[in-house]
Amino acid sequence: MKLMLVGASGLVGQQVLRQALADPAVDCLIAPTRKPLAAAARLDNPIVDFEHLPADAPWWSVDAVICTLGTTMAQAGSQAAFRRVDYDYPLAVARLARSAGATAFVLNTALGAAVDSRVFYNRVKGEVEQAISQLDYPSLTLVRPSLLDGGPRPDSRPGEGVGLVFAKILRPLLPRRYRAVSTEAVARTLLAATRAQAPGIHVVESEQIA
Ligand SMILES: NC(=O)c1ccc[n+]([C@@H]2O[C@H](COP(=O)([O-])OP(=O)(O)OC[C@H]3O[C@@H](n4cnc5c(N)ncnc54)[C@H](OP(=O)(O)O)[C@@H]3O)[C@@H](O)[C@H]2O)c1
Repeated sequence: MKLMLVGASGLVGQQVLRQALADPAVDCLIAPTRKPLAAAARLDNPIVDFEHLPADAPWWSVDAVICTLGTTMAQAGSQAAFRRVDYDYPLAVARLARSAGATAFVLNTALGAAVDSRVFYNRVKGEVEQAISQLDYPSLTLVRPSLLDGGPRPDSRPGEGVGLVFAKILRPLLPRRYRAVSTEAVARTLLAATRAQAPGIHVVESEQIA
């Protein structure tokens, strides 16, 4: 399989990168990023500006795509800038890869994604799910993790840290859907969907991530 990963430098993306490079089913991993990744065998790492994706690049021609792109309101600075990263960039990647022949797309969205949500973050996640659903991918998988448990981040996210502490203390009391999930498990689930390429649109809720 020729696999594309966008978001390879992120917490989930790094796990997908590690697992994909160890997976014999992945012949070649194309991971466009804005900063270079460490070189590895079978890894092609085009450096791109997501504002100006090169539509005619030959590396869009892949079998499947995993998207773990995303930002936070704090990092982005405005709702418009957040939407650019969490809606426009994944949709642009999905369009370009589909036009080049990709048949499977696996999107890391989030618990609560819904176009009619009153929460802006969840609404954008719902909207990107819906927009990509309209691109006629033979196989589309929407993976919706709860809070991610993936170790320390390079940037400071105090809200997420406090959330994780409470999520761990309350874990036995929380319904499975709301429990924190490991980034390793999310990555495994994303990769499994590219291998399965199950026809149609599939939603994987957080309690199904294993
Ligand atoms: N954090 C949580 O608890 C949580 C829970 C559920 C779902 N999610 C969702 O899961 C996905 C992955 O989360 P994560 O925690 O792994 O994210 P992350 O660590 O913040 O990584 C985000 C990725 O997106 C890229 N990115 C961000 N802004 C960009 C920009 N302006 N231009 C180009 N690339 C950009 C980053 O690249 P750079 O390294 O170049 O910045 C990185 O590869 C996201 O969609 C997130 O919303 C997160």
